[in-house]
Amino acid sequence: MKVVDLRSDTLTRPTPAMSQAMAEAEVGDDVFGEDPTINKLEAMAAERLGKEAALYVASGTMGNLVSLLAHCGRGEEIILGSLSHTFFFEQGGSAAVGGIHPRTIPNQPDGTLPLPEIEAAIRADNVHFPRTRLIVLENTHNLCSGYPLGIEYMQAVGDIARRHNLKIHVDGARFFNAAVALGVAPDQLAAEADSVSFCLSKGLAAPVGSMVCGSREFIAQARRARKVVGGGMRQAGVLAAAGIVALTEMVDRLAVDHANARKLAQGLADMPGLSIDLSQIKSNIVYFELTRDDMTVEQLVKKLDDEGARMLPVGAGRIRAVTHYHITSEDIDYTLSVCAKIMEA
Ligand SMILES: Cc1ncc(COP(=O)(O)O)c(C=O)c1O
Repeated sequence: MKVVDLRSDTLTRPTPAMSQAMAEAEVGDDVFGEDPTINKLEAMAAERLGKEAALYVASGTMGNLVSLLAHCGRGEEIILGSLSHTFFFEQGGSAAVGGIHPRTIPNQPDGTLPLPEIEAAIRADNVHFPRTRLIVLENTHNLCSGYPLGIEYMQAVGDIARRHNLKIHVDGARFFNAAVALGVAPDQLAAEADSVSFCLSKGLAAPVGSMVCGSREFIAQARRARKVVGGGMRQAGVLAAAGIVALTEMVDRLAVDHANARKLAQGLADMPGLSIDLSQIKSNIVYFELTRDDMTVEQLVKKLDDEGARMLPVGAGRIRAVTHYHITSEDIDYTLSVCAKIMEA
């Protein structure tokens, strides 16, 4: 049976070029700083984001955690979105591991945090309060339909951060999706951020790994934090080799994923019983709602699954579909035809 798996872009498998690069990778002990493939990937990542240095980590979650541990001490506060991945889906790791206090602000549908609310959340110097250290943004914003935050918004947050002597961390799990969707250079989009983490293992299709980028001093701290959470990975150049291919060959093609997501969204928008806000669709993530009472989201997802069109129920009547390297335009046609058949029945 044909299977079109739209549950997540984390499902991507290595490309043939990645498999070859992994088989041939030169490796060494990365905790000693001696894995040439990791060193090369770190230099490439830093250069692409216009930062001094970078660090290879096991996952996006680890990238965010070590970044927060490097920026903040115990009892210090971060300002972040109420719908952010770091707040929602990372086990509260920064609080659990680092004693870092989260202060949430409601995300707008476009993934932004309203500037006046950021400013209002910054603590005064008062013995009762934790100290605000860091603003955490997410780009693209997963739960906000993969919406990209633009350079102008980043500059406005940068102005606030500078005025209050705060740092900015960007959870850029899909940072290159953001840059491609906005048509801007990644280093320009990263310019206001003190640190950016991005995933190699989502739309860029590498099997494992994320990068953290920032100043030399920050990366030295993040490297210490990586070690204490057990993330020193020795001959992980076999994995980093795929990351080099990801950065070299897989960035520009993200535009194909974005076009497929838009095509999917437009097709779903035409179907009675489904509701979707097309203005939200800017990158590779599509959320839509089931508006019929005679079917639950779980039943719809099961019916789709039976026909090989796989999507993710995400609660509150919503379903998520994510386009990626293994999804073609014909796969979108197939998915829409299956969906139309179910909705007409
Ligand atoms: C926005 C965002 N940040 C961080 C992560 C965590 O990445 P990982 O699954 O590699 O830990 C994800 C994963 O989906 C994500 O969507």
